[in-house]
Amino acid sequence: MTNFVTKQSFILADELATIAMGKRIADLVKSELQQGITVYLNGDLGAGKTTLTRGFVQGMGHVGNVKSPTYTLVEPYDLAEWQVYHFDLYRLADPEELEYMGIRDYFNERSCSFIEWPEKGTGMIAVPDMVIDLAYSDEQRTMTVHADTVLGQKLLLALIS
Ligand SMILES: Nc1ncnc2c1ncn2[C@@H]1O[C@H](COP(=O)(O)OP(=O)(O)O)[C@@H](O)[C@H]1O
Ligand SMILES: [Mg+2]
Repeated sequence: MTNFVTKQSFILADELATIAMGKRIADLVKSELQQGITVYLNGDLGAGKTTLTRGFVQGMGHVGNVKSPTYTLVEPYDLAEWQVYHFDLYRLADPEELEYMGIRDYFNERSCSFIEWPEKGTGMIAVPDMVIDLAYSDEQRTMTVHADTVLGQKLLLALIS
C-alpha cells in the first residue's frame, strides 16, 4: 500500500521546537481531523511530555498557563469547540481511582486527551490513536510517533507531509 506509514521519528532541537511540534499537532487536529484524538506519551522524567502537551493545549486555543497535573491526575481545558484533557498518571496508585473520576465521560468526538504514564491507567483509558515516545540527549529530543488507528495514521501522514 502506498502512503502507509505507521512510525516516524522527529528531532526536536530545543524546548521551543517541542512546543512548536505540540502546536503543529493541534493545528492538524483542527484542520485535518476535525475530531478528537487520544495520545499516549512515553519517556523518562524530563523527556518533554509536559512541554509537548503545553504546545498542544495552547495550539488548541488555551491562553495562559499549562501546569503539570502531577498531583491532580488530570487538568481539563474547556475551550470553545474542544475539551482538552492533560493526564499525568504517574502518581495513580490504582486504575480504579479513574472510575471514581468519571473517566469514561472524558473520551468523545470533541475531546483530545494527552496522557503521560498511560501504563498506570491500563484498562481504564481509551486506546490511543497515536503513541509518542520522547527520548533525550542534552537539549535535543527525539520524538517517535506510532500511529495506532486510522485517525492516528491520518495525523501522522499530515505531520510528515
Ligand atoms: N528539546 C527539548 N524539548 C523539551 N524539553 C526540553 C528540551 N530541551 C530541554 N528541555 C527541558 O527539559 C524539561 C522537560 O520537562 P517536561 O516537559 O516537564 O518533561 P516530562 O513531562 O517528560 O517529565 C524542561 O525543563 C525543558 O526546559
Ligand atoms: Mg510531565
